[in-house]
Amino acid sequence: MSDTSTLAITPETEQPVQLKYSRTIADLPGPKPSPFFGNLLQLDRKRIHVTVENWIRQFGPIFRFKILNHNVVVVSDYAVVSSLLRERPAGFRRHQAGVTIMKELKIDGVFGAEGEAWRRQRKLVMRGMNAEVVRNFFPTMVSMTERLMLRWKTALEAGKPVNVHRDLKAMSLDVIVALAMGFDLNAMDTDGNQLQRDIDGLFMRLGQRMNAIFPHWRHVRLPRDRDADASAGRIEFAVTDFIQKTRERIKNNPHLRQKPGNMLEAMIVASEEDGNDFTDQELIGNAITAVLGGEDTTANSIAWLINNLVQNPAAAAKLAAEADAVLGEHRFIQDWEMLSELTYLDASHNESQRLKSVAPVFGLVSNEDCVVADTFFPKNTVVFASAVGASFDENHFPQSSQFLPERWIFDEKPDEGNDPNRKLFPFGGGTRLCPGRFLALTEIRMVIAMLMRNFELEPDPKALPVKEVMNFFMVPSGVPVRLKLRA
Ligand code: HEM
Repeated sequence: MSDTSTLAITPETEQPVQLKYSRTIADLPGPKPSPFFGNLLQLDRKRIHVTVENWIRQFGPIFRFKILNHNVVVVSDYAVVSSLLRERPAGFRRHQAGVTIMKELKIDGVFGAEGEAWRRQRKLVMRGMNAEVVRNFFPTMVSMTERLMLRWKTALEAGKPVNVHRDLKAMSLDVIVALAMGFDLNAMDTDGNQLQRDIDGLFMRLGQRMNAIFPHWRHVRLPRDRDADASAGRIEFAVTDFIQKTRERIKNNPHLRQKPGNMLEAMIVASEEDGNDFTDQELIGNAITAVLGGEDTTANSIAWLINNLVQNPAAAAKLAAEADAVLGEHRFIQDWEMLSELTYLDASHNESQRLKSVAPVFGLVSNEDCVVADTFFPKNTVVFASAVGASFDENHFPQSSQFLPERWIFDEKPDEGNDPNRKLFPFGGGTRLCPGRFLALTEIRMVIAMLMRNFELEPDPKALPVKEVMNFFMVPSGVPVRLKLRA
């Protein structure tokens, strides 16, 4: 291979630049494709990330595979992944397959937007989810954590079993609907609410369509597709109503302009400011997107952490000791300051995200010809960027298969090259870094601290081993844990 150069246009300056590289995609290693399907049949469709991770181990930090006759390039070197994430939205866009399916179900917000539309919506969403709004929303999270604790205590005292996975999802749904729509759904204690059924139904359809081999719903609409449309319509109607009520509340309580108590209030205040012309459709689309972005991710990040803790009793004991020390007489967090004192909890969460990230791969597409890791990528190259490539590399994380929260605790801040936080991307990176991470981390700390302060975890001896399931996010097949009241 000799050094080659190609003329390309940089999207920001629109100036031609000389691209230098020593290889093209055809030169990359990768699994052997078969004539028509390429490597499609080798992909475990419900667990594509597992196949990709096995290939990373086999073929290294950059390789290619084929879906039919389309190339997909996988990159897992963290420095390369970080640079691709930073080059959005100009250099790379999100892969549109999932975004189109989301839009068909009226989940149309910042996650799927690109270019100028993304910039506008990102500004709107950041107003709705910033640290100040989460701080103002904290009292609601306190009462929802208490609700979860009481539900579990009441069940155990009555000798009834607790379905931890179901309750975690209900908790996250309640939190995110209250934040994004200003409404207490109380999915925790009710199963029958129409809005909850619609949200559950819509997200289930999204997961199924993401895994479908053929997009039949674009040609033949089955009853379940009509149900999904009806759910999407009812959710939109409900959010429109919440927006109207929130506008009135702000009018009657002008102090909310300075101190919005949830995301919807903050977005409405932003939309009424001079120079901002956010439409109601953007408010609705982003309230629904936040619910999608915030429910399964947070609930299942907690679920994976609990699964890891039940397999690692020594770490669970340390966490319980930390929760006792920080919470003192309290049974759950009621004081904002306590959130920053949970060092071992944060370390355990980082370690759990390393081993079981709910978003292990980013699907990206190049907007122009470019060079990545000395390889020429033509415009529209599909790239799978691994969020966790370094996590199973012994050079970066010795004893990489072990759950060791201690590797995230330091006496002194590590330098850049040794900082594990820079090697993994559980919340993405660059300008599109997850805007909900502060809310998510607050919820994770509150739920886990409450759990460890009040309950003991025991493995369910009859349960099947937990599997990784990819249905838009990478979720555990269950949380086979029995809770016991702590003395
Ligand atoms: C533990 C919980 C969570 C995890 C692991 C997570 C992870 C992610 C990841 C990996 C991305 C893609 C970032 C990128 O492309 O660089 C993302 C984007 C996003 N997340 Fe989260 N997230 C979580 C919680 C939340 C919550 C609670 C919300 C809403 C309050 C939320 C809203 C969003 C939105 C709107 C985007 C799109 C941002 C954009 O495209 O500019 N997420 N999240």
